[in-house]
Parts: sequence; C-alpha cells; structure tokens
Amino acid sequence: MKKEKEKNREKEKRSHIVQGLGQAPGDPAEDRPDAEIEDRFPLFAKVRRNEAARVYIRCQNTALKALGYTEHGHAHVKIVADRTKYILETLGEDDHTLDLALTAAWLHDIGNVVNRVDHSQSGALMAFQILNELQVPPADIAPIICAIGNHDEGNGAPITRISAALILADKSDVRRSRVQQEDPARFDIHDRVNFSATRSEVKINKDHSGIKLKLQIDTHYGEIGEYFEIFMDRMLLCKRAANSLGLAFHLIINEMSLM
Ligand SMILES: [Fe+2]
Ligand SMILES: [Fe+2]
Repeated sequence: MKKEKEKNREKEKRSHIVQGLGQAPGDPAEDRPDAEIEDRFPLFAKVRRNEAARVYIRCQNTALKALGYTEHGHAHVKIVADRTKYILETLGEDDHTLDLALTAAWLHDIGNVVNRVDHSQSGALMAFQILNELQVPPADIAPIICAIGNHDEGNGAPITRISAALILADKSDVRRSRVQQEDPARFDIHDRVNFSATRSEVKINKDHSGIKLKLQIDTHYGEIGEYFEIFMDRMLLCKRAANSLGLAFHLIINEMSLM
C-alpha cells in the first residue's frame, strides 16, 4: 500500500495531470494545513491564508461568471499554481523562486475584479498592494508583479522564467469542470471546447529539451478545429514561453501531434 502510494507520487512528479471530469478543488479555506507548503513556501502559505486574496479570487470568478466566462476561481489558481511549480521544479529552480512563482500564480487573475480588459496590469497593482501590506521586500515583489502583468496573451510576454512558467500553466488549464453554464444548449465556443476536454497533461521530457501539452478531447461536444479557433494566440504565446525556458513546445490532441 505504502509502495503504491510512493509510486503514484513519483508518477505525479514526472508530469502534471488534470482529469477534466473530476471535481475541481475548492476554496483553500476548506483545505487542511499543508506542512510541505508551510515549510518550503512561506510567502505562498501566507498569501493563501490572506483574507483579501481569498475574497478577490472568489470575486474574480463571480465577475467572469457574470460575463459568461469559464471558471477562474480557486480551482483555476490552484491548478495554475501546481503546474507552475511542476515546470520550474522540474527545471531545477530553488525553493525561493518556486515560492515567488506560486504566489504569482495564486494572484495572477485578481485584476478581473476590476475589469477583464487589462486584468493582468490591474492584477499586478492589486498584488503589489497585498504583498506590500505583508511587508514583502521589493526584490521579491518585483518578479511576482512582473509575471502577473505579463501573463495575458493580449499584451504579455515571457520575460522571466517565472512569467514563462505561469503562461504555460495558465494557458494549459482546459477542462470540463471549468464550464459554468449549466444548460448545454447555451454553451458558447469556450464552453464547448472546455467541456470536451476530459484530460490534460503537461509533461517536460527527461532531457529537458521539450514540454508537451497533451489533451484528450471528446469530439462529441467540440471539434479540434474549435480548440484552435479560440486558443491559437494562447498556444503561440505558450510556444514563446517554452522557447524562453530552452524547451520546444508540443501540442498533442487525441494522440495527434499538432504543434
Ligand atoms: Fe488571466
Ligand atoms: Fe488565469
């Protein structure tokens, strides 16, 4: 039993998998304290417990749900944080860098509370306010707000390793549990594409020369072409982000290599 658990943990470390049909994780207020996070990532642990951050993350989703967007709440930021950590940890970054990257991932979408337009920039300024109040040194705030301000395909760029990992983690969160529209008859193209994604996996190869985004799409609900229609800009930004980390970017949908 113990061996089986260890084997699964090792397997998890080699890639980051999300089952799109599974239940999305919820508000961290309901989480049990995580000793590994507290020990290794003290800033991230503090920000996860921060009341303002918790409220803004909840409200960013409320705002986007009202606009008909897919889920952008605690489930999304948890997956993005886990994936950002997987990418940078696999590439050998130290715990302090991971701590800053996890914090950036956790706060990256709070600007949606202000407006969807330019949410990366408004979010960076909101994150600055939270981190400044927590008396985080400017040398640590700078890489966090830089990554937040550069995560969106409209005007972002992978200018640091943290921002590149955040872009890859954010743009690869496609899954059925992101769909918030309950009536399938009212699905838009984003709902259809997300609803069709039953599994997604991000995996860096053994020699650290490439990163794969592998998706399983149930074509009963969405066409692979529709995925490209809405995600082309995002995939091109992912390619730039991967390249900036010294990795080739590969997109594989239903075992077909598309990029
Ligand atoms: Fe965003
Ligand atoms: Fe996001």
